[in-house]
Amino acid sequence: MAESTDVTTPVGETIALRDGTTMPAVGLGSLRMSPQQTDTTISSALRAGYRLIDTASVYGNEAAIGTAIRDSGIPREDLFLTTKVWNTDHGYTETLRAFEASRARLGVDYVDLYLIHWPVTPIDRMLRSWEALIELQQRGDVKSIGVSNFMVKHLQALIARFDELPVVNQVEYHPLFQQDELTGFQKESDIVIQAWAPLGKGGVLESPMVASLGEKYGVAPAQVVLKWHLMRGRAVIPKSTNANRLAMNIDLDFSMSEPDLAVVDAMNEDTRLGSHPDAPPTNGLPDQ
Ligand code: A2P
Repeated sequence: MAESTDVTTPVGETIALRDGTTMPAVGLGSLRMSPQQTDTTISSALRAGYRLIDTASVYGNEAAIGTAIRDSGIPREDLFLTTKVWNTDHGYTETLRAFEASRARLGVDYVDLYLIHWPVTPIDRMLRSWEALIELQQRGDVKSIGVSNFMVKHLQALIARFDELPVVNQVEYHPLFQQDELTGFQKESDIVIQAWAPLGKGGVLESPMVASLGEKYGVAPAQVVLKWHLMRGRAVIPKSTNANRLAMNIDLDFSMSEPDLAVVDAMNEDTRLGSHPDAPPTNGLPDQ
């Protein structure tokens, strides 16, 4: 069982969402965090000042996350919980049912952000899931609704049918994979990008350019990359199960110059590390 978390001060910036809610800019991703690791990792993260925890029904750790946040003693209203509906639960009633199961596993009254995890076809069934998310938001069971792994064409399909648009699209985004078309589209539609694999799964931390920026600002390579995301208007959910790295990833109280941000912009190679949105993982865990 996790020890009660005595630190109650959240750390870090927030991002205003179009629906009037506020989201922590840095959150903790929990993919591949086993139920055993979840307890210690979540309590370390909460002690370090994290208040956004990102999970998904398919990760299999919602119940462990629910236990860890209750054990922390942090008031529910100070936490921001994200979970996601998986591909096999698309459709209106299916999604409502999947939400109830996630809510029960998490042991909470409401979820802060509920996402369609993957833009799977048939598109009509996915659009019925979006109707269910709108319904959940109207009922107050969910504060904000969004999507994940959507490309411009998927966002356009939603926009063509609904007035209620996602406030967040959580996608793979890191210095080696900067989605310029999506970024431009989302800026126009006021949809926040929340980056998964924001550190390129750790790979970009080896870059000499990132290392020299770290030396210049007196911070670690991971902090350079995460600050670059935040200063470009994106939210991030870096993953770590190490207490020191968890703390470092939310300690971003410095500022980078525009030319230095442009150095990171210039690292783009359009190299996708995870699954393509049109080829969702069919068995096992997804990439995020
Ligand atoms: P670890 O869990 O051992 O800290 P991403 O969020 O882009 O998927 O990256 C996750 C990977 O980056 C994990 O392998 C994680 O390893 C590593 N990582 C996370 N934070 C840091 C950091 N501050 N410094 C170095 N590696 C990190």
